[in-house]
Amino acid sequence: MDRKVDFLVVGSGIAGLSFALKAAKVGKVLIVTKANEDESNTKYAQGGVAVVTDETDSFEKHIEDTLIAGDGLCDTHVVENVVKEGPARIAELISYGTSFDREDSGEYDLAREGGHSMHRILHYKDITGYEIERALLERIHADPNIEILTHYFAVDLITPHHLGKHVDKRSDDITCYGIYAFNTLTKDVEKILSKVTLMATGGAGHVYSTTTNPTIATGDGIAMVYRAKGKVRNMEFIQFHPTALYNPKEYPAFLISEAVRGFGGILKRVNGESFMEEYDERGSLAPRDIVARAIDAEMKKSGLDYVYLDIRHRSKADILSHFPNIYEKCMSIGLDMTKDLIPVTPAAHYLCGGIMVDEYGATSIQNLYACGECSSTGLHGANRLASNSLLEAAVYAHRIFEDASKMVGAIDFQDHIPSWDESNTQLSNEDILVTHNLRETQKLMSDYVGIVRSDFRLERAMRRLGLLHEETEAFYKGTKLSVKLCELRNVIQVAYLVVKSAMHRKESRGLHYTTDYPQHASYLEDTVL
Ligand code: FAD
Ligand code: SIN
Repeated sequence: MDRKVDFLVVGSGIAGLSFALKAAKVGKVLIVTKANEDESNTKYAQGGVAVVTDETDSFEKHIEDTLIAGDGLCDTHVVENVVKEGPARIAELISYGTSFDREDSGEYDLAREGGHSMHRILHYKDITGYEIERALLERIHADPNIEILTHYFAVDLITPHHLGKHVDKRSDDITCYGIYAFNTLTKDVEKILSKVTLMATGGAGHVYSTTTNPTIATGDGIAMVYRAKGKVRNMEFIQFHPTALYNPKEYPAFLISEAVRGFGGILKRVNGESFMEEYDERGSLAPRDIVARAIDAEMKKSGLDYVYLDIRHRSKADILSHFPNIYEKCMSIGLDMTKDLIPVTPAAHYLCGGIMVDEYGATSIQNLYACGECSSTGLHGANRLASNSLLEAAVYAHRIFEDASKMVGAIDFQDHIPSWDESNTQLSNEDILVTHNLRETQKLMSDYVGIVRSDFRLERAMRRLGLLHEETEAFYKGTKLSVKLCELRNVIQVAYLVVKSAMHRKESRGLHYTTDYPQHASYLEDTVL
């Protein structure tokens, strides 16, 4: 069944839902999302939302912390906008019914995380994202102007290419007319035409073999935009969270929130020595790139796959009231964090780069916006400050609404788009090949494009990716669509963008550390592909 809608939103995390609620004031909104409606990185966010609410804090301090973490590559103007507009957007989330914890005095219970000079993180226990997603979805369900299609997988953007026009990276008039979406129930590919489309497809943790991200995070939106000849930026900056729970039996990895370190948790060697002071004067609360590299170095020295996190000095009552979810998870594998050391290891966590957007979230493709983790706004630079991601999504959802609501009235549907062509394709009887190629891609990315990189490793990764790309594209052309096959294509595409960008950056900065160029370069440059 083909559809037409004013605003098409791809993804149902904080970015997509926040925008949808606003857009519904001026038109009909359709949200398509590839899994259950709440499945998203948002749902698993633990630590909270960084925002200035306390009178001892200031915009200047939050701006400075963000710029320091970003290691010179943040867009200062964007940082100022996000930090200053943050309180109004978070007040909106609260007005939708989101709860944040308060102290007995009635003041917000502000947490602290790595790289923050102040306690400024609003949180709901250690399940902040779950609470935000719950409140947003409740509002979405109550809005008659919003329809949500679950288990619909966005396959590709519809552009002039589908009208037979030549489109390449130099074309300055690429327009998005909607998307082709795979209905996983009927197995049909449907055409959804839209006036305005928002890409809110989240991150790409599953480009790596160890990640904190749920399995939906396969970089689909970024791959779609790049295939449609849109611009992506700074893809080399993959944030590895320093403290995923070390449990080789579990995939994806469970996160031990940075708020545990903000609450006094100390990273230790297996012999019980604290080590972060030897790497950075901020100790266990240094920015993530520094802590993850230090843990990586310690693991290489010890030959073990983990270090320890120690929070035993805090009272059981305090630990239980702040981290009930983490406590329960640890107990489920026989670890009592009030008495035991927690084994932790870095895991791919957040993509700082993504679809390049301007200050109103507009991409290089007309009528297409991007919001949240799939976008690159300039806020995070070379390393995101903890808990700035939910904030960024809330602020940009509003900015995009302001821009798109002015434009939508002047846009017409493009009625001449052909239906999806699946002639010359057959059902696959070799799905295992898809699984093998996915695992191979994830492993090569973890082995060669991880926390510490080198030219040699990047070249090795690129050669292997070339072969995987070739095999997968050939398989894709002759095979009926499946979600797994589309995700594999996207993962390989995003892996390519990460490696290509990393090869381009001949310096170490923020999350990109290479032994061949261990210093900052003398110039500051974004990587745009
Ligand atoms: P998501 O919430 O990931 O939503 C993406 C949506 O797009 C999903 O609904 C997905 O199903 C859908 N989708 C993807 N591809 C397709 C497709 N092809 N077709 C249709 N639908 C598709 N950030 C903070 O600021 N504070 C924190 O405390 C914090 N903790 C975190 C803890 C964990 C374990 C993780 C994984 C991340 C954490 N982050 C945190 C990061 C933050 O949660 C994410 O960056 C943010 O939630 C991203 O929101 P989003 O709306 O952009 O994407
Ligand atoms: C965490 O709780 O440690 C995650 C915070 C973030 O990724 O911003």
